[in-house]
Amino acid sequence: MKNTKPKHGVFSNIIFTFKNVYRINKILLVAMAEMVFVMVAQPMITILMPKFIVQFFEESRALSDFIILIVVFGVVSLILGQIRSFADGYFPIMKSMYRSMKLGSEMCLATMHVHYKYLSSELGQLECGKAQHAMSRPATGVEDTVLRIVECGANLIGAVVYIIILSSLSPFIILGLIACGILSFLAGNVVNRYRLKHKDTINKIRKKGHYVKNATRDSKYAKDIRMYGMFDWLVSLGQKFVDEENEWESKITLREFLSAAADGLVAFLRDGIAYGYLVILVLNNEIPVSEFILYISLIAGFSMWVSNLAKNAIILAADSLELSDFRVFMDKAEENLNSRLPAMSFNSPVSIEFRNVCFSYGEKEIFKNFDLKIQKGKKIALVGVNGAGKSTLVKLMLNLVEPSEGQILINDINSKEIDIRDYFDLFSVAFQDALVLAYGIDSNISMKSSEETDQERVDDVIKLAGLEEKINSLENGKYTSAERYLDDQGTELSGGERQKLILARALYKDAPFLILDEPSSALDPIAEAQLYEKYNEMTKGKTSIYISHRLSSTKFCDEVLLLDGGCITERGTHDELMKLNGKYAHMYMVQSHYYNDRKEEASA
Ligand SMILES: Nc1ncnc2c1ncn2[C@@H]1O[C@H](COP(=O)(O)OP(=O)(O)OP(=O)(O)O)[C@@H](O)[C@H]1O
Ligand SMILES: [Mg+2]
Repeated sequence: MKNTKPKHGVFSNIIFTFKNVYRINKILLVAMAEMVFVMVAQPMITILMPKFIVQFFEESRALSDFIILIVVFGVVSLILGQIRSFADGYFPIMKSMYRSMKLGSEMCLATMHVHYKYLSSELGQLECGKAQHAMSRPATGVEDTVLRIVECGANLIGAVVYIIILSSLSPFIILGLIACGILSFLAGNVVNRYRLKHKDTINKIRKKGHYVKNATRDSKYAKDIRMYGMFDWLVSLGQKFVDEENEWESKITLREFLSAAADGLVAFLRDGIAYGYLVILVLNNEIPVSEFILYISLIAGFSMWVSNLAKNAIILAADSLELSDFRVFMDKAEENLNSRLPAMSFNSPVSIEFRNVCFSYGEKEIFKNFDLKIQKGKKIALVGVNGAGKSTLVKLMLNLVEPSEGQILINDINSKEIDIRDYFDLFSVAFQDALVLAYGIDSNISMKSSEETDQERVDDVIKLAGLEEKINSLENGKYTSAERYLDDQGTELSGGERQKLILARALYKDAPFLILDEPSSALDPIAEAQLYEKYNEMTKGKTSIYISHRLSSTKFCDEVLLLDGGCITERGTHDELMKLNGKYAHMYMVQSHYYNDRKEEASA
């Protein structure tokens, strides 16, 4: 069976929480100490007061002593009450700020810095989801640990203080009380172990459930859901995961109930025996009534401390599992951020070489012993059938995924020796599946806020990408939101307009290596012809790769590469490959056949 032991244990997580509370908000640390103090002190006062009152009667003390006693207790209670209500007010607010404002934004940053290959893997998605769950609410791992540390701290100190006061009683009673406490704790721990054992299974079910729920409200799927009548299918899928999650919750709840019942039985026996013992002591005149009252309250109070300690320690252990998930994910980002290599700058343009590269998606092998060299400043057209691996080759070039064997070299330097941030700076890419954000078109091009954007450059690339006419038609021009999701005044870009925007984004970045993955699939013939015409201008002083199924695009490139079966099977200019009369020539003929037929029809 898979090892389910969490990476970070409870004590390590407690230390982690203290360190972070200290780093983020020292006042929260003071609030925690204050909470512990009042939680212990308040019940102590309540217990001591009746004991002293009875004792004063037993000792027939003067009325003035009695009044002083009442006043002292009254003032102390009042002060403690004030401290408590003050702490009750600001402790939850600070605790929540600690999670949602500080650690929340740190996690957002971490999610954007963690390796792409990790984040896009199944493991990365699962771990990121678990970390997000730990951070999502006040009652989950990250924030709740703060509360449980306070609760456990107060209950532990309370129990120790009460035991010290009770220590004048028989050691058997003390040992019995401690043994009962341990039993209560063990009963609760059974539930915790069960929860730990099945945590990953429950998380997987939860993830599947969220996926279905999100799909039903995501506007990207809304058209298909309606057109294909996917209602019953999605509802039954969602219900299935809800049922599975409920089934697990019921199993856990049953164990919690049994554990609570065992705890109740232990408490009943413990209190019964202890009270019986005290009654015998009073009847034998071994202790006065005032001490009897004190001990009875202490034993009841001790039981309360122990049972609360057990309850909170179990919740702390459950929180700790979630906090461990959070830390595992944050450690991944930390590793990435700390592995900064010396800064390296490159003279534009750059060369790239694949040497003996192997890469698979799980079992599916895409490249085996793949070799390719692209010289500086070359304009390459990369063609191949659907699924040939063109976009995967781009991901390998960009270091978004890693080869299992072999090397990728930039200007003869192994890509692994180049810091990932410097490496990303080398490439401008128009991804085949790029998205636009619900912010201004200018920001969608620069990928920065409007204020930080070089607006002149935005205007230039808008012209170069053929988006000028569209921008001019908008009331707010390039400042119009590229989606209506957050702004009613926003626009809804057509498929081709979106593609032009993504091209403009790649041009704005102006990196030494330009990669366009299917930049013209949605363009009308005139826009496509304009793109071809401007391609020389776009790629001036750069190395470039143009991926397209429209083979006419290969004519303005220096070289055409045909990717087939994980290898470059044909390489040369368009004319050379046509002469070769291989697969490229065949594909070209098939595509041009229809147009030629139409031309012949027209001239007939
Ligand atoms: N993340 C992934 N996990 C598993 N398989 C993948 C993944 N991405 C791509 N593949 C598979 O790898 C193969 C190559 O995909 P790739 O996207 O590189 O093809 P392509 O040549 O760009 O195709 P197209 O012309 O359709 O864009 C395909 O069979 C695809 O199913
Ligand atoms: Mg592709």
